[in-house]
Amino acid sequence: MRTAVHYQVQDHVALLAIDNPPVNALSAAVRQGLLAAVRAAQADDTVHAVLITGLGKAFIAGADIREFGLPPQAPSLPDVCDAIEACRKPVVAAIHGPAHGGGLEVAMSAHYRVATSSAKLGLPEVQLGLLPGAGGTQRAPRLIGAQAALDLMLSGRQIGAPEALRMGLIDHIATSDDIQLEGLAYVRHLLSEGAPVRRTCEQTQAMADRAVQQAAINAARADAAKRRGLFSPLKIVDCVQAALDLPFAEGLRTERALFQQCLESPQRAGLIHAFFAEREVLKAPETRSAKPRAIQQVGVIGGGTMGAGIAVAMLDAGLQVILIERDEAALAQGRTRVEKVYDGQVAKSRLTPQGKAGILARLSTSTDYAALAQADLVIEAVFEDMAVKHAVFAQLDRYCKPGAVLATNTSYLDVNAIASSISRPQEVIGLHFFSPAHIMKLLEIVVPAKVSPDVVATAFELARRLKKVPVRAGVCDGFIGNRILATYRTAADHLLEDGASPYEIDQMVRAFGFPIGPYEMSDLAGGDIGWATRKRRAATRDPRARYVHIADRLCEQGWFGQKSGRGWYRYAEGSRTGTPDPEVMAIVEAERTKAGVQPRSFTTEDLQRRYLAAMINEGAKVIEEGIALRPLDVDVTLVHGYGFPRHRGGPMKYADQVGLAQILADIRTFAQTDPLFWKPSALLITLVEAGRDFDSLNQLETPHA
Ligand code: 3HC
Ligand code: NAI
Repeated sequence: MRTAVHYQVQDHVALLAIDNPPVNALSAAVRQGLLAAVRAAQADDTVHAVLITGLGKAFIAGADIREFGLPPQAPSLPDVCDAIEACRKPVVAAIHGPAHGGGLEVAMSAHYRVATSSAKLGLPEVQLGLLPGAGGTQRAPRLIGAQAALDLMLSGRQIGAPEALRMGLIDHIATSDDIQLEGLAYVRHLLSEGAPVRRTCEQTQAMADRAVQQAAINAARADAAKRRGLFSPLKIVDCVQAALDLPFAEGLRTERALFQQCLESPQRAGLIHAFFAEREVLKAPETRSAKPRAIQQVGVIGGGTMGAGIAVAMLDAGLQVILIERDEAALAQGRTRVEKVYDGQVAKSRLTPQGKAGILARLSTSTDYAALAQADLVIEAVFEDMAVKHAVFAQLDRYCKPGAVLATNTSYLDVNAIASSISRPQEVIGLHFFSPAHIMKLLEIVVPAKVSPDVVATAFELARRLKKVPVRAGVCDGFIGNRILATYRTAADHLLEDGASPYEIDQMVRAFGFPIGPYEMSDLAGGDIGWATRKRRAATRDPRARYVHIADRLCEQGWFGQKSGRGWYRYAEGSRTGTPDPEVMAIVEAERTKAGVQPRSFTTEDLQRRYLAAMINEGAKVIEEGIALRPLDVDVTLVHGYGFPRHRGGPMKYADQVGLAQILADIRTFAQTDPLFWKPSALLITLVEAGRDFDSLNQLETPHA
């Protein structure tokens, strides 16, 4: 069996090197190895001090996240940390790369800490629905005070070595990156100074001023209470309160009990699912089979809302950008849109004027497609109209060099049709960005039939450079995200006509954990966009499908949302927060009467069940048709592009937690009044019959097979 912790004694120093690639997570083998090594060092009279390091790219990335939810294995991490701290010989942690979560807790249990200048320290447990559960909530305040400890634990942010030194989290920054050498040199220095054993649990200085500590805790509690729906932040605050009020051993007991509560919470399961799903989406089949092409110069066609945002995303990633527009006036507007983003950053002192000039030096503009001759990748973001897309792609076919990747940012149009309209369909792919494109993390990579695998691999590599979360999607109307959105938005419109107000629906969606409801979203984006799409599709709509006219009636009044001062809500001059509008409700009621609907009342739970069942059912269809590779791809899409609360993992994970039999039973009940809309997904039925859940499909490449 592989040794997870190497142990050797060199000139009276016990060297403990953790060897658990890729990131030295604290698996059972590592915990056992650490405990045995500390005991060996303690028992060996020739050993004067102990040095803990990590091999490879990390000190320790934290507890082994894959073990959460499994039966516990001894020794526990808190026991390992206690044993390190209790050691009667000075223990030094030498940190390089990440020291996160349990990794930093190990380091805080050591008596001294040295780090390389590139080390990254943090307590990110809150992002997994947890709290530092190996003494971190008790040791961090004793080392750095309640305020700094709460900041680290509640934000989950990573800090560099200089900040850690200022805080008192580490004692020394190493001069080189050779952590073994530097760690040993620091141990020798401490031994030569006669440095004593210095246990964090006995430190009192950082918490000496009780009133200051209590004020920090009170402020953090008020902040944590505002993080609606999240379970672990308030528990973290409770732990720090215990650190202030109770002896160390009792504080540890409080931490243990609250950690256990977090561990058992569905939020922990949701957030850890999201953590792994965000990594799994990177592993599309083409990323294994093909090599990405080199990308340096990028063309962007159209400098409107999306084109300008895409250009900024590319510039931010250090790429050269050529922006193409249809005429000089539109080109100037496009350039101004890009510049405005950087002006905003300068105004907020996030960028210097020189920095802005440096970035814009990589942007050139033209109305002539010949300027794209050397572009490695071109992304079009022109009007959502097939004829316009075809015209643009014909130009790209004519002017772009062989091997250039040709991408469309279309929201709904058939990427296969775009690809087959030119002589090189193998180079055409969909890159579906979300608005604002330089901020939103999701990038749907839409893979048409004839595209070459290395073009797909290039798209994934581009996402990495842009720091986006890529999801592979197949071609269909709306791909993964917009197709599911269209369905649950339709479900909302049905609820509206059946008796719920738009305000109740928005409130219900927020209560579930979305940052914004569907009607507020429509007011923000502009109701005219959806209206145009509905008009375009009117001819091809299934005549049997229920159609709710309320949104159209609002648009006919010119009520497009925030930009026109009213939409579903009314907006006072300059305000972005709307108030319910009785005139909207009058239109809603008139439409209900026209449709012959007897309005009924819904509880929040009724509304949630329908809204989510619609989302889950369409998600299942998207998987069943192979549009999404696995359920987790749907989850990541909804979380990163549509505001689905990350702590619930995504709609498919949520469905698993509710139970698929329950979801299917709901859908069948709703189908009694509208069998067309509520036709259950065949995949959902199969899973229920087999007693399986969506997660059982996540390991497979073609889960619907
Ligand atoms: N446990 C298990 N596996 C882990 C892990 C962990 N703590 N951290 C990372 N991994 C896995 C990833 O899933 C990935 O696996 P894969 O190759 O099969 O997809 C692999 O290690 C490499 O990870 P990344 O791709 O994320 O590598 P990066 O170099 O980009 O990032 C990192 C490294 C910054 C350490 C990042 O992995 C990270 O943030 N990890 C999680 C850190 C964390 O949350 N720690 C707290 C854990 S909870 C805890 O400690 C509780 C304690 O208080 C009791
Ligand atoms: P927009 O109307 O803001 O911008 C389109 C731009 O394309 C305009 O500046 C126009 O002058 C330019 N243009 C039109 N024809 C051109 C041509 N032949 N050559 C060069 N430039 C031309 O539209 P928006 O919102 O930026 O959308 C663009 C594309 O992105 C559409 O396909 C849309 O479906 C898609 N999209 C839009 C999202 C959004 O939230 N707005 C989100 C994701 C995708």
